[in-house]
Amino acid sequence: MIEPHALDIPTADDIRGLVRPDHVHRRAYADPAVFQLEQERIFGRLWIYVAHESQVKKPGDFVRTRLGGHEVLVTRGEDEKINVLINRCPHRGARLCMVDQGTSRLFSCPYHAWVFKPDGSLSSVPHRQSYPASFDLNDPINHMQRIKQIQTYRGFIFATLNENPAPLLNHLGAMTEVIDNLVDRAPDGEVEMGESYFSVEYRGNWKLHMENAADIFHPSFVHASSVMPARKAPANASILDQDQTREMLLANGFGFKEWEGIQLNGLPGGHAYMTNIYSNGVLVQKEADTIATQYRAALVAKVGEERTAEILGMNRFNNIVYPNLIINAQYQQMRVATPIAVDRTLVRIYCFRLKGAPDEMFHRSVRFLTTLGSPASMIFSDDIEMLERCQQGLSKDEGPWVDFSRGFDSDRRDANGMLSGAASEMPMRVQFQAWLNYLTAEAA
Ligand code: FES
Ligand SMILES: [Fe+2]
Repeated sequence: MIEPHALDIPTADDIRGLVRPDHVHRRAYADPAVFQLEQERIFGRLWIYVAHESQVKKPGDFVRTRLGGHEVLVTRGEDEKINVLINRCPHRGARLCMVDQGTSRLFSCPYHAWVFKPDGSLSSVPHRQSYPASFDLNDPINHMQRIKQIQTYRGFIFATLNENPAPLLNHLGAMTEVIDNLVDRAPDGEVEMGESYFSVEYRGNWKLHMENAADIFHPSFVHASSVMPARKAPANASILDQDQTREMLLANGFGFKEWEGIQLNGLPGGHAYMTNIYSNGVLVQKEADTIATQYRAALVAKVGEERTAEILGMNRFNNIVYPNLIINAQYQQMRVATPIAVDRTLVRIYCFRLKGAPDEMFHRSVRFLTTLGSPASMIFSDDIEMLERCQQGLSKDEGPWVDFSRGFDSDRRDANGMLSGAASEMPMRVQFQAWLNYLTAEAA
């Protein structure tokens, strides 16, 4: 599936000229030709998360998303197999499905009513007799185009346009640990995505969001407007949510001293995460919390005390699976960033149910999401404002470079990757090194 280039695609040398060890050129965020190259070499070649198996449980279930600049449908066929199909009618090219998720045993094109099965094969065409004798319903040319490479890791479905990819596990590397942790938190060993999710589209480049998720430096400035009222609120102000909202807002008011125990981790391939966050902060579950106690007991009953302590003890935050996924296992949440244009990004934010856990655990996750990541959130809306302001500043030739030098002198390296303290911009440097490698690799 190679597209002819509409724009003058930058050469490898052009791209190298955009990344310095601690600076990045504004064109990385604002040049449509760079964006097109990213679509081809990052979102077209890497394993990209496309859906969760619980969203396509039964034949006909589908999810609409994007892969390497193409709109795709992830479907469950009648044979129970998962398909990833280009959302395009092979007759005259019309987009077939305009719904984001649902169930449909057949997909009918709105233009001339060619009808497709969930596996993309052509089921029928109206007025069959007017087509030539050679017209064959079974000819793949008349089927929706299939993405050949699909792999699943513990319920998370990834796909790539790369015809000859390295195994998914190579790409995920140590980030499998956070997917494992999310799933292992379920007493019945399975998670299920909530039926609904939040969607936010902002007018900025996708990388701004992935950087923001690794940026511990900004909350006390950007989110100050919600920290102040939370500080003034009485301790039982948010009785409906067990004080969860107030505590989350307060956490953003932590000063540098409180962040000191946090370690940032940057991995090859552009992945990153924070450790020790909230390990003894305001978001730690209280011992007197009956729901948490019930949930813990359910997990202990299935996996034992020692394993439970190990599972619940993992407190990594904002696990960034490059290029588009952010997982928070302990809050049963995930964000997926989808680039739409060089200056437009769609973010979808999901909660997971832990099978075998009290329902209230899911409700807490939803409330946490509402506080942190919904379009009306007092937190994410502030972040979006910053991402859009950055895009505005980067879109004009008012200065070529973006500075990522904070913490540069104190970055450390271990066998797994890079380490730094909370104040460092190391994760962004790791992301841009990976970006550079992906964009300058000629062959898939
Ligand atoms: S474009 Fe789909 S049936 Fe004609
Ligand atoms: Fe933020």
